[in-house]
Amino acid sequence: MAPASRHVFPLFFYLLCCIILSNSRTVSGQGQNKPVFACDVSSNPGLKNFSFCDSSLDFQSRVSDLVSRLTLQEKIGWLVDGAKGVSRLGIPDYQWWSEALHGVSYVGRGTKFSGLVPGATSFPQVLLTAATFNESLFETIGKVVSTEARAMYNVGLAGLTFWSPNINIFRDPRWGRGQETPGEDPLLSSKYGAAHVRGLQQRDDGDKERLKVAACCKHYTAYDLENWKGFQRYNFDAVVTRQDMDDTFQPPFESCVLEGNVASVMCSYNQVNGKPTCGDPDLLAGVIRGQWNLNGYIVTDCDSLNEMFYTQKYTKTPEETAALALSAGVDLNCGDFLSRFTQGAVTAGLVNETIIDRALSNNFATLMRLGFFDGDPSKQIYGNLGPKDVCTEANQELAREVARQGIVLLKNTQGSLPLSAPSIKTLAVIGPNTNANQPMLGNYEGSPCKYTSPLQGLAALVATVYQPGCADVKCATAQVDGAKKVASTADAVVMVMGSDQSIECERLDRVDITLPGQQQLLINSVAEVSKGPVILVLMTGGGMDVQFAKDNPNITSILWVGFPGEAGGAAIADVIFGLYNPGGRLPMTWYPQSYVNQVNMTNMNMRPDPTTGYPGRTYRFYKGETVFSFGDGISYSEFTHSLVKAPGLMSVPLQEDHVCHSSKCRSINAVEETCKNVEFDIHVRVKNTGEAEGSHTVFLFSTPPEVHNAPQKHLLDFKKLHLTPKGEELVRFSVDVCKHLSMMDENVNRKVALGQHVLHVGNLRHTLNVRIRRNINLQV
Ligand SMILES: *[C@@H]1O[C@H](CO)[C@@H](O)[C@H](O)[C@H]1NC(C)=O
Ligand SMILES: *[C@@H]1O[C@H](CO)[C@@H](O)[C@H](O)[C@H]1NC(C)=O
Ligand SMILES: *[C@@H]1O[C@H](CO)[C@@H](O)[C@H](O)[C@H]1NC(C)=O
Ligand SMILES: *[C@@H]1O[C@H](CO)[C@@H](O)[C@H](O)[C@H]1NC(C)=O
Ligand SMILES: *[C@@H]1O[C@H](CO)[C@@H](O)[C@H](O)[C@H]1NC(C)=O
Repeated sequence: MAPASRHVFPLFFYLLCCIILSNSRTVSGQGQNKPVFACDVSSNPGLKNFSFCDSSLDFQSRVSDLVSRLTLQEKIGWLVDGAKGVSRLGIPDYQWWSEALHGVSYVGRGTKFSGLVPGATSFPQVLLTAATFNESLFETIGKVVSTEARAMYNVGLAGLTFWSPNINIFRDPRWGRGQETPGEDPLLSSKYGAAHVRGLQQRDDGDKERLKVAACCKHYTAYDLENWKGFQRYNFDAVVTRQDMDDTFQPPFESCVLEGNVASVMCSYNQVNGKPTCGDPDLLAGVIRGQWNLNGYIVTDCDSLNEMFYTQKYTKTPEETAALALSAGVDLNCGDFLSRFTQGAVTAGLVNETIIDRALSNNFATLMRLGFFDGDPSKQIYGNLGPKDVCTEANQELAREVARQGIVLLKNTQGSLPLSAPSIKTLAVIGPNTNANQPMLGNYEGSPCKYTSPLQGLAALVATVYQPGCADVKCATAQVDGAKKVASTADAVVMVMGSDQSIECERLDRVDITLPGQQQLLINSVAEVSKGPVILVLMTGGGMDVQFAKDNPNITSILWVGFPGEAGGAAIADVIFGLYNPGGRLPMTWYPQSYVNQVNMTNMNMRPDPTTGYPGRTYRFYKGETVFSFGDGISYSEFTHSLVKAPGLMSVPLQEDHVCHSSKCRSINAVEETCKNVEFDIHVRVKNTGEAEGSHTVFLFSTPPEVHNAPQKHLLDFKKLHLTPKGEELVRFSVDVCKHLSMMDENVNRKVALGQHVLHVGNLRHTLNVRIRRNINLQV
């Protein structure tokens, strides 16, 4: 996101960008404390004559009426994010670009904070939220964010269209934007996207056609490289196999559209297999509209079209670029490319008005579903929301709760954590992220309600002595002596280390995945002299190679806290002092540094290649050493699993004359007529055998037979439960053989492998034999 063309026309674009920015701030009504909306019949009764303003009519008739009244010039003004109002029809300017990745953000041009609303609740960065594996929480956060967003809209500080969430797969540990995503697993990303979008969009009155705010799933598709060793997202060609596309990169988008009913999808900067995504009719019109039937609009990333023309040189003229994007299925352009070149494209006969009308209709329909054409918002469902509904006590408490639920305990030597406050006379708190405020938010942040830094959170519970240890997270020179001095006398040491946006962010991938600069030296030096336990708190986006800390017996505990949001410091203190029992699980693999030395970030392949020694990616395919694995995370309690019910054999009926009855088949088509409702249940008893109450996530993985480059293991489902000490619960999973146990083969046919599937729950392994049988209920 963020205008990208600066490397094309550096000065020109900066200027242009500032002009657009200041324009949109004045025109979108900001500073006037009033929302932007059309069809203001109370101040202009003549507007009643327009049927597009008549909220009793269906959206389609209203949209056609509106489109039919516009000149081509006016239409073109509604193809870009800074849409130009049509005053003769009572339509104001509208800025489409707002952001709310983990709270209402100031990043988009359509939203800002002011004296009236100085901040909004800043939840943890998404990767930490994903670590909660709490599906209802994903939705609850969306609900709170959209309430605050509506409240800000009502006072002219925000739009109604938000370009979040980011549901790209976190494919490579170096990716600067991995922090924004729900991690590396397609199932978790799919569940997160759908649940969060429902939370953002669904209205409380149950009206499914109308929207609270419009969300946007981005960046479609196979986008996960910023700037690595000279490779730039603006012209990177992601070479993706059909199989990886179908079982890794596309599922979160499919689920976002089909299960989440998202109102928008954003196409990315990069190319996929030689075609820019925003100019690929197969990916846009074909898949998003054709197969998934999106009810909403497709928007380009900010200046994707500029990049397509100037950087990728994919098209011969800007007009051809505009025509290609519109014909491929783009409805709205973040940037001004379509407002500059669409007229020319029409004049040259490269695109016609029918195509423009289609785009426009998708855009207007979205705004209609938001009530934008229903007159005064204060008389509509969310009309009574205002500044009082932003940063409420409950919302701020939820931000703290999400951080607590997400924090992952990765190492805990017997007796280290939790610390008991009465026995700590002095706590040494060391590290460059100890006194961090802004770094806790991650990117796509807004102004928070307030901050609680780790130092503040800990100091609220015990007496602390503080040493930064490094000037900043880059830690060019560790200040070892001061740190050692406090560590050697304190009863315990908490070191808050890691990264911030200077290390991993949008437009910046990492090259190394070790802790920056001399952080390791600082940690080891402190560990060598510490009197009490040393608790290493890693505040990072992506994973770090901290094998040294895992191996060092003096480092007694390790916590990953992501970028934990505005209340992060309070949540960290809650966990360290046992006011909350941690239950977060890693949503991504933590690789050793050797992995990135071996693997080019540009290699998109998920699957290993034995001929080149390429090791593959993520827990689904990578078999090498890890520092920590997907799903890792311990608790102050212990949980055991026992299998109560699971079948040993499942058979799929096949027609009498099916070839697999007479010859040996290793798999069958999951779309076979008879491959339906072949279902079974797995029941697992989960028991909390420890002394602390806490939440526990039960993962159900499957290892299919080795055929069709299947993953070595993949997540079928997960369930989170809360158990009191000695408490137990029966967890039930329902598995559909043809759906859940099937996979894409090399030619993207969905197949069920025959033979032994191994199901994993905790330490349990259960073998399920899938075979075929003759269908005796033949239909004639
Ligand atoms: C609206 O319609 C009424 C009657 O149909 C007409 O008298 C009036 O002039 C119209 N107003 C405008 C602004 O077109
Ligand atoms: C506009 O262009 C589309 C795609 O080329 C074509 O199918 C359609 O018939 C055209 N419409 C008109 C009115 O020319
Ligand atoms: C661990 O601490 C002890 C002192 O408590 C020290 O002698 C030893 O060298 C330390 N080990 C490491 C690996 O830092
Ligand atoms: C990585 O990419 C570079 C340049 O594109 C190439 O020379 C090198 O062989 C690649 N390395 C691996 C391990 O694929
Ligand atoms: C999921 O989150 C909700 C909201 O915070 C919480 O009430 C619930 O206990 C969580 N579920 C589990 C199993 O921890």
